Amino acid sequence: AVPDLELIQSRIRDVADFPAPGILFKDITPLLNDRHALAATVSALAAPFRDTGVDHVIGLEARGFIFGAPVALELGAGFVPARKAGKLPSRTIGQAYDLEYGTATVEIHADALHPGSRVLIVDDVLATGGTGRAAVELVRRAGGTVVGFSVLMELAALQGREKLPDVEPHCLLSV
Ligand code: PRP
Ligand code: MG
Repeated sequence: AVPDLELIQSRIRDVADFPAPGILFKDITPLLNDRHALAATVSALAAPFRDTGVDHVIGLEARGFIFGAPVALELGAGFVPARKAGKLPSRTIGQAYDLEYGTATVEIHADALHPGSRVLIVDDVLATGGTGRAAVELVRRAGGTVVGFSVLMELAALQGREKLPDVEPHCLLSV
């Protein structure tokens, strides 16, 4: 598995001063572009959850969609998009979370999970943990059980893990 992680790490590109001066952006598009790195990433995100009876994978808009749907296929689970407010057409439940400036809301359809549904949350990055925390609360309010939170990379300095002690995020890389 270690050669896979080295491949994955090698395909994440640092872009300086994006989206604002002083920010070093972690660009995953070279990873998506490389079929071996993409397959290794999906496989590694799914691996710890293969025999845990996952019913649904929730992908967090937007970059969590890219990994969430193929992870759902690997686990034989359904896929649930968690979208930013106002994008889903039917009845929704929403959860607000804090951003650096202001708040945002993430939503799923109210009928997306069944009672006791076993849910794996998938995203690309764990930063402050606000997005992940909101997703966990949303799953629980919808009657589901959070089986895990699987993430490509953790920005360790932002300590998002501390907001998720009850789910112990599975992160492939810590940067
Ligand atoms: C980014 C990233 C995670 C989230 C992590 O998404 O894709 O979803 O931030 O940050 P947090 O741990 O501090 O909440 P963003 O909201 O920028 O949007 P995108 O996925 O639509 O690009
Ligand atoms: Mg995101």
